[in-house]
Amino acid sequence: MADPVIYLDHQATTPCEPAVVAAMEPWWSDQFANPASRSHRPGLLAAAAVEQARTQIARGLGVEPAGVVFTSGATEANNLALKGLAEAELQAGGQRRHLVALATEHRAVLDPLHYLSRHGFELTLLPVQADGLVDLERLQASLRPDTLLLSTMAANNEIGVLQPLAAIGQLCRARGIRFHCDGAQAIGHIPLQPATLGIDLLSFSGHKLYGPKGIGALWIAPGVQVAPQLHGGGQEQGLRAGSLPVPLIVGLAKALELALNDREARAQRLEALRDRLWQRLAALGGVHRNGAAAPRLAHNLNLWIEGLDGAQLQRALRPVLAVSSGSACSSGQPSHVLQALGLSRQQAAAAIRFGLGRHTTSAEINAAVAALEHAITEARQL
Ligand SMILES: Cc1ncc(COP(=O)(O)O)c(C=O)c1O
Repeated sequence: MADPVIYLDHQATTPCEPAVVAAMEPWWSDQFANPASRSHRPGLLAAAAVEQARTQIARGLGVEPAGVVFTSGATEANNLALKGLAEAELQAGGQRRHLVALATEHRAVLDPLHYLSRHGFELTLLPVQADGLVDLERLQASLRPDTLLLSTMAANNEIGVLQPLAAIGQLCRARGIRFHCDGAQAIGHIPLQPATLGIDLLSFSGHKLYGPKGIGALWIAPGVQVAPQLHGGGQEQGLRAGSLPVPLIVGLAKALELALNDREARAQRLEALRDRLWQRLAALGGVHRNGAAAPRLAHNLNLWIEGLDGAQLQRALRPVLAVSSGSACSSGQPSHVLQALGLSRQQAAAAIRFGLGRHTTSAEINAAVAALEHAITEARQL
């Protein structure tokens, strides 16, 4: 049997923890009732499991359970937050029509914002600094009396840099601007309590934190009005219609619990492994780190390598390593994030992203380094 591939693509997705799979297990076939069926015991049990999960998730985020709305993932949570807020403003007869976001947002934020910009809203996409971090003065200057919303991600999915959420939250609060944060890469990985950061809307996703795919949530701060984007059976306080996927919801809660339990120790261990990977590759020369060294996710490293084509390098590495050239969702295109840092299309195309994870071992990093050293040296000799 071939040696297993070393998986270093944990920003694309993480494995679902066996303990999460075990927690979900009873809710597929044994206790399968619809939590909206309040007329019988199995339905009530399912509803209780959903509410227990909601409470557990809320506790992990330091918020009230009533603000947690389950969605199919961060994409849907972002769409609900952004379009829902814009629509609620229109419905209330409000006059704010200006939206602000960073140029380095995930497409699950950029695309809904572009959609809104075709429907009466005006969008400002802020450039970032060469290290991927927002320029707070520039951000402040972009805010207007009619700015409805500012959206920034907590941790970038490609380069892992962490935006200064508390400072951004303050700027928004002072102007009555709603602050949406895409926390898909951050929740379970860095300490993030939305209510203490001035965040009004927080999106996150199960499969980025060792939970199942197809589940996520939007947390909505008390008093923030969001218009539903899925209409139907009135589930989730009428904010998101559709029968609730009880196993996935139970799994999301369990995954978050586990992630919060080992977050600090995991980050420390992965940071040491990530730094070793960086030092060994930097020693080859002509290897550049994309994005600030700090603040950054402990388990992310993104590089561009002089004289190499990233896709070609990836093909050479494919038998041994699972890595990515950037966002899993826009593979094939030179990254808009790297270009926003000032990299040329060619440099962006020579980029490679490493995402370490809970089960990444020191031996795997050594093997990855050896494979990379070999592949890079060979490619440079061609
Ligand atoms: C920052 C960010 N936002 C949103 C998403 C989309 O999440 P989901 O797959 O849960 O829809 C991703 C996934 O790649 C992401 O990294």
